[in-house]
This record gives sequence, C-alpha cells and structure tokens, in this order.
Amino acid sequence: MDILEAIRARKSIRGYKPDPVPRGILREIINIASRAPSAMNTQPWEITVVTGKVLDNIKQGNIDMVSSGTTPEPAVRSKPFEDKYRQRQVELAIQLFGLMGIAREDRVKRAEWWQKGFRFFDAPAAIILSVDRSLEEARSQFDIGTLAQTICLTALNYDLGTCIEDQGVTFPEIVRRFAHIPESQRIVTSIAIGYPNRDFPANRLESKREPVDEIVTWYGFD
Ligand SMILES: Cc1cc2nc3c(=O)[nH]c(=O)nc-3n(C[C@H](O)[C@H](O)[C@H](O)COP(=O)(O)O)c2cc1C
Repeated sequence: MDILEAIRARKSIRGYKPDPVPRGILREIINIASRAPSAMNTQPWEITVVTGKVLDNIKQGNIDMVSSGTTPEPAVRSKPFEDKYRQRQVELAIQLFGLMGIAREDRVKRAEWWQKGFRFFDAPAAIILSVDRSLEEARSQFDIGTLAQTICLTALNYDLGTCIEDQGVTFPEIVRRFAHIPESQRIVTSIAIGYPNRDFPANRLESKREPVDEIVTWYGFD
C-alpha cells in the first residue's frame, strides 16, 4: 500500500468482525512497525499481544470493574480539555453518537457504548503497550506514540483496522492479572486490532482536522 494512501486511509475502527487475526500476521506487523523511531534508539516499548481467552478475560474483568462502580484510572493522566481542545472533543462525540444513533439524554445507550470501549470495541485481538518504570515518563510516552501510529499504518497493509485505545487499559490491574504484565512496567495504552466490520456505523466516521494554515507558522520563506 502506498504510504500516502495508508496515512489517508487510517482511521479509528470501533466495530470489528469476530474473525481471529493470525499470530503470524500480528508478528509481521510488529516486526515492521518496530522500525519506528525512538529517542536515541532506546526502543522503550514492551509489547503484549492478547487474543482468545486471555482477551476475553480482560474484557470481562473491565466490565466487572465498571459494573461494580470502580472509577477507571487513565494510564496517562490529563486534566479536562478546555477551549478549542474541548470543542474538538465534543465535536468528535457528536459525530460518533450521531452515527451510532445515540441521543444525548439516552443514558442506557451511552453506557452501552462506554462498555464497548472497555471490551476493546469487541476486537478479536489487542496490543498492550507498556514501558519500564525506570524510564522517564514523558520521553517514553513520545516513543510509544511513534510506535502506535506505525503499527496502525502497517496493519492497513493486511486489511486490518485499529483503534488506539486508552480506555481498554484504564483498569491496569485487570490487564496485569490476565496478560501477566509486571508492576515494574507502566501500561501506557492499547491498540484494538481486527478486521473492520464495514457496516458498523461508527466506522463511517471521518474525524475532522484543522486546515494546514491554522496549524503552521512559516518563517524565512520569502
Ligand atoms: C493516545 C490515544 C488514546 C485514544 N484513546 C481512545 C479511546 O479510549 N477510545 C476511543 O474510542 N478512541 C480513542 N482514541 C482514538 C481517537 O479518538 C482518534 O484517534 C481521534 O478521534 C481521531 O480519529 P481517527 O483516529 O479516526 O483519525 C485514542 C487515540 C489516541 C492517539
């Protein structure tokens, strides 16, 4: 797949076919994506790939936590978004809920959607990205970002869809228990991965971007 085509085609997939993803393909994707750059080639990523019973246990464990009223803890703490950032966040939610036919006041459907996120959007596999706690947090976070995007782009070559998903690891103790990730590693994020269900409404979402002239400042060109 042409690189520009891949960058343009990548989008977050939130509805998957149940078909399993062969281990060999996941291995190939990670092998290629591990060419991603990292600061001083430190390659701080620890990668755990889960499917089958293990992933089912994590999904169920997450749902049990939600059902028991436990508050999810974002792996990467951030304060609430404000101003234009909040606006973009709201816009995304409006687009997403619009496509899914979820009304603002429909608490049942909103809760169902929230739960789907804790189930990795029912993807047949998930990639958990973690880093050793000895590493400085902000720096390793950046490197995890380059890897995550490279995995998502590479996956397209195998007709696979992805969604980088913080929500799936907001109960890190559940992920640790079933995926045997030691306390010495900080779980950063996850990537849901699988064959996209093309009929799933949320997969039609075309998220917006600011025009280039709004985000770039040019100096010294004339
Ligand atoms: C670090 C990170 C965490 C994310 N976590 C979630 C998540 O928990 N749930 C979700 O539905 N999407 C999540 N996303 C996907 C973003 O919502 C998505 O990338 C953004 O809306 C742009 O849409 P696109 O990926 O379709 O271009 C996450 C993306 C990133 C980069």
